[in-house]
Amino acid sequence: MTDQELRVSKIQRGTVIDHIPGGQALNVLAILGIDGTEGDVVSIGMNVPSDRLGRKDVVKVEGRELSQSELDVLSLIAPDASINIIREFEVRQKHRVDRPERVTGVLECPNHNCITSESEPVETEFEVLDGGIRCVYCDTIIRENIASHIYV
Ligand code: CTP
Ligand code: ZN
Repeated sequence: MTDQELRVSKIQRGTVIDHIPGGQALNVLAILGIDGTEGDVVSIGMNVPSDRLGRKDVVKVEGRELSQSELDVLSLIAPDASINIIREFEVRQKHRVDRPERVTGVLECPNHNCITSESEPVETEFEVLDGGIRCVYCDTIIRENIASHIYV
């Protein structure tokens, strides 16, 4: 690791999400449900130079590990992300995100007539396709800017 990459300091314990496409860090935080009000300790690097991606974002969340459903949705906006579990300042586990077959919750269907948009909503569920996702209830397909459909 070069000094260049040490722009954001190392953490003692938590999760480093690395190799996020440049500009997507805030969307990653939205997927994790982190808006800063709960007191999570978070460091963000945006548009950091990267050999592999040209520029990348990095998100470091202290004291927390991620659930599989968070990782599944993350893979849709950051397919090349690496997830590093840090304990005692060391990288203890490093894994890539996998593209899931389906994602439930987290993303909202844009069709206002969809059963998932009603007043007692059914949890959303999307089938993951090449280049998009499809609502399993109403067949609406989202191809672009998936991050804009994250529930806020
Ligand atoms: N990291 C951190 N705190 C630590 C250890 C590592 O914030 N105590 C961060 C590093 O800054 C890096 C990521 O976790 O962004 C992965 O660390 P490491 O595996 O040491 O870096 P690389 O070898 O560059 O990772 P890769 O091969 O995945 O590019
Ligand atoms: Zn729908």
